Amino acid sequence: MSGYLDRIGAGKILVNREPMSFDWMPNNLVGRDKELSELAGMFSHIEDHNSSCRSVITGPVGSGKTVLSKRFGDDLLKHLEGKRKISYAHVNCRNNPSTSQVLQQIAISLDSGHPERGLSSGEIIQSIRRNLLSHNNHLLLVLDEVDVLVRRDNFDLIYKLLRIDESQERKGSLSLILISQDSMLLKLFEPAIISRLGASNIIQLKPYDKKGLIQIIKQRADIACRSGSISEDIFEKIGVMASESGDARLAIELLDSSIRRAESAGRGEVLVVDVEQSLARSASIEPSQVDGLTKDQKLIMLGLCRRLKKSSEINTGEAEKLYRVVCEEYETKPKSYTTFWKHLKLLENQGLIETRNDKSNVGRGRTQYITMNNVAPANLATRIELDLQR
Ligand SMILES: Nc1ncnc2c1ncn2[C@@H]1O[C@H](COP(=O)(O)OP(=O)(O)OP(=O)(O)O)[C@@H](O)[C@H]1O
Ligand SMILES: [Mg+2]
Repeated sequence: MSGYLDRIGAGKILVNREPMSFDWMPNNLVGRDKELSELAGMFSHIEDHNSSCRSVITGPVGSGKTVLSKRFGDDLLKHLEGKRKISYAHVNCRNNPSTSQVLQQIAISLDSGHPERGLSSGEIIQSIRRNLLSHNNHLLLVLDEVDVLVRRDNFDLIYKLLRIDESQERKGSLSLILISQDSMLLKLFEPAIISRLGASNIIQLKPYDKKGLIQIIKQRADIACRSGSISEDIFEKIGVMASESGDARLAIELLDSSIRRAESAGRGEVLVVDVEQSLARSASIEPSQVDGLTKDQKLIMLGLCRRLKKSSEINTGEAEKLYRVVCEEYETKPKSYTTFWKHLKLLENQGLIETRNDKSNVGRGRTQYITMNNVAPANLATRIELDLQR
């Protein structure tokens, strides 16, 4: 009985921070029963040891593509326990934008030791296949944000993965789910890939409406907050605001920042003014302000936004690493650390980010932490991505 310890770290409103994190996965997805059963339909043969299944999921930002695939993977593995051995690997191609990085992630997920160096991608794929075969295992592979990989390395890897069992005796090594915001991507697929994916295996998620968004934040608030600390009009207000984009992440972000605001004012209840202030802040950055940034600044901001969607702050060392990942994605040579740092200062002067210094976790030095209080990072990221793709 250590339940009494729950009070440690509990705030006036929040009793459990976890559901406020974007990575937290609810047991039941709100309003996605139809899509889950569509997926199940596409995977109806998965019990058969010789079969492989395929699906493509598209939908706008925050429509729940990632969480849908993870929920499905989790449920499927449990459902097939004792019937078919399946490993689930979820690779985000934005964080691993090259063919070799994706393959490395797959290899790591299978725990097959270090991926062999000096082998071609085709050879690594065959070694992944042999690994699966020898363990009588099937891989359910999700390539999330696959458009980033395709833009960089074309369709080569997808094509190879789809043909993994070709001219082999045993089939059924790998099932594939491809995820992309961009439904135009499908139009770019070559006919050979479309026919292998199955033209009808496509799920297109719609943005959430107000009702769905309210349910999504209520589901989290029920677990995260003291009962009665958030009233109906608060949910309603957030629902209306987020329904402009239909982005569940924005709704969660607004709930989270309203709670923080109320708690830091010492209240045990969220007021409409907390939401209004969160909204005002998230709207206080004019799009034109982002348009006016240099390319390097946009790339830096994009890296920051992607992390700050998920956590409340980031240190400058991590921020620089993320900047490098973004540079790689957009095939741009990263600038030196000094230049990076100068840009950070300029971004701070423009009110796009805030920084604070704190004792470092390692050694005796000080670390600088970056936060973004004037803008919703998820929104800004989308804006910058669209801008950079132009
Ligand atoms: N139906 C749902 N029920 C509960 N939570 C949801 C639902 N849909 C989305 N969420 C939550 O909203 C957030 C955003 O969802 P998710 O990351 O899956 O969106 P996405 O479509 O993958 O967005 P992106 O295009 O930016 O990758 C996550 O924290 C997720 O858990
Ligand atoms: Mg996603």
